[in-house]
Formats: sequence, structure tokens, C-alpha cells
Amino acid sequence: MTYHDYLIAEIQKLKQSKNAVILSHYYQLPEIQEIADHVGDSFALSKLASSLPNDLIVFCGVDFMAESAKLLSPGKTVILPVEGASCPMANMASASHVQSLRDQYPDAAVVSYVNSTTDVKALSDICCTSGNAIRVIRSLPNKQIIFVPDSGLGTYAASLIPEKEFILFNGFCPPHKDASETDVLLAREAHPEAKLLVHPECGQEVRKHADFIGSTAQIINYVANSNHRCFLIGTEEGILHPLTQKHPEKEFHMLTRHFICRDMKKITAAHLLRSLQTMEAEVHIHEDLASKARISLQRMLEVTCLPATTTLCQ
Ligand code: 13P
Ligand code: SF4
Repeated sequence: MTYHDYLIAEIQKLKQSKNAVILSHYYQLPEIQEIADHVGDSFALSKLASSLPNDLIVFCGVDFMAESAKLLSPGKTVILPVEGASCPMANMASASHVQSLRDQYPDAAVVSYVNSTTDVKALSDICCTSGNAIRVIRSLPNKQIIFVPDSGLGTYAASLIPEKEFILFNGFCPPHKDASETDVLLAREAHPEAKLLVHPECGQEVRKHADFIGSTAQIINYVANSNHRCFLIGTEEGILHPLTQKHPEKEFHMLTRHFICRDMKKITAAHLLRSLQTMEAEVHIHEDLASKARISLQRMLEVTCLPATTTLCQ
């Protein structure tokens, strides 16, 4: 038995004895995506977290995802296998930033991308994910929209909803922002036949060249429904795992070699086993804060009715 086989066998044993479910985002390491019970994008995982029967949710992602799961399942134990796995973009916007925007624009609705801290969610009217932002914002009666923290998704939404006035916070996802128009031009030259699929967290200079813009799950669905054989991938490289597993006959090229989120790569199978053994790091949110933040997530779930898109791995 290899060390990896040992880790997997121990994880399976503990998972059963603790009635745990393992959730993984598409940006996680392949070894994590393979052990997980469900792999999905932020939207699908938030929906799942609110409906799972298990007592224990092990969330392989970053802190805002595990916190969202806890907000939606307050009675359950939620653990994030590596405590410091955190989203740099979510950490760019604080509650005081949001409060000062609220004070400046009292008629505006505050829409927070789910990639935000619990403090920011508690001050928001509604949350959204990259997969449902347009539907969520269109559902609001307000003409003015304060959108935090991602300026990439914010400018994308503003371009599709010109009837509303957007007040954007200037946060960004470092790996998505790093992708440049030059990367697109070089990649197009190397693979002229490829379709360019990008995440809305990319900047406008990249998005304007895209054949398709969507969340990770939407990119995966696009590939599944396309007759094309060759694709340029404009999002974090973890998505290559489900794409190459499902479509060995298709060709995938990363838009840049540096499309890696370090925080999404922090959790390994060894961390996962350790967290099941020690029950660390458990997510705790004070109920005063949780009751406010939960409302914005629940409103998002109420206005979105797409079925969850997940891959059942085991
Ligand atoms: P989603 O496709 O899940 O929205 O991924 C975006 C992301 O950056 C998660 O951190
Ligand atoms: Fe945050 Fe970007 Fe990493 Fe997602 S990919 S966790 S948005 S830094």
C-alpha cells in the first residue's frame, strides 16, 4: 500500500464514522477533487451546504467558502482543513469600506460577491456568485448598485446591465487580474483554432477577446456541450482536472502558465486526514454576526433557481 493509498483509506474510514461529507472547489489540487464527495463552483457548493444531511462538512476551499457553509448550516460542524487558506480578494474589502459606501449612496443596494468576509456579507443586501451575479442584480429594484469586492465581476455585470448605475469597489483576484491582453494574443497565435473561455474575474482587456465568459461550472458545461476540440482556459488551473478527466479527447491550454491561486492549493490529502482526526480548523461565527450575514446568502438562494451543478465523485 502506498502512503497515498493509506491516506485515502484512513480518510474514508473517518468520513464514515463521523458522518462527514467532503466538498471541494474546482480549484483544489487533483488529489482533493478525487477524494471529495462533491466538487463544484461556489454557487453549487453554497446550495449543497444548505441541504446536506451530514453532521460534519469538511470544506476544501478557502475560508469564505467554509464560512458560507457554516452560515447556511448553523447546526452543523464545518471544518476547513488548513486554517490559513484565505482568499486575498475577499480580504481586500472590510466592513468599514462597505459602511462608508452605504453612507455615501443611501439608495443603493449592496451586492457582495460570495468571495467576501462574513463581516461584509452582514452589511450586504444580497450575495451573488460568478454564476448568478447578473440574475441577482437584475432582480433588485434599486437603480444604484454597490458591488464589492471584485472589480472584474463588477465591471462585467455593469457591461451587461447598463440600465443600472454601479459603484464598484476596486478589489481583484490576483491570478485572474494577472492575465493580460498580451497573454491572449500570444495564446491565440499559438492555438488559433482554440475557443477562449474565461472567468468574469479576469479584466475587461481579457474578457473582450473571450468566446465564452462564465463561472468554473459554466466553463465546464460549455466544454461538455461544445463540438470544438481545442480550448484556451482563462481561469485557475485546478479546472483542468475535471476538464481532462471528462474529455480526454479534447485539448486544453492554459491562457498563462501562472494561473494559480496559492491559497486554493494549500490543502493536501495529508491535511484532510489530519483535520478529520483533530476536527481542526472548525469554523465558528458569532450568532449576532451570522444572523445578519446569513440573510444575504439566503436572499441569493431565493432569487436563483438553477439546479446545483456538481460532480458526484464517489
Ligand atoms: P467560481 O467559479 O466558483 O465562482 O470560482 C471563482 C473563485 O475564484 C472561487 O474562489
Ligand atoms: Fe480568491 Fe482568486 Fe483565489 Fe478565488 S482564485 S480564492 S477569488 S484569490
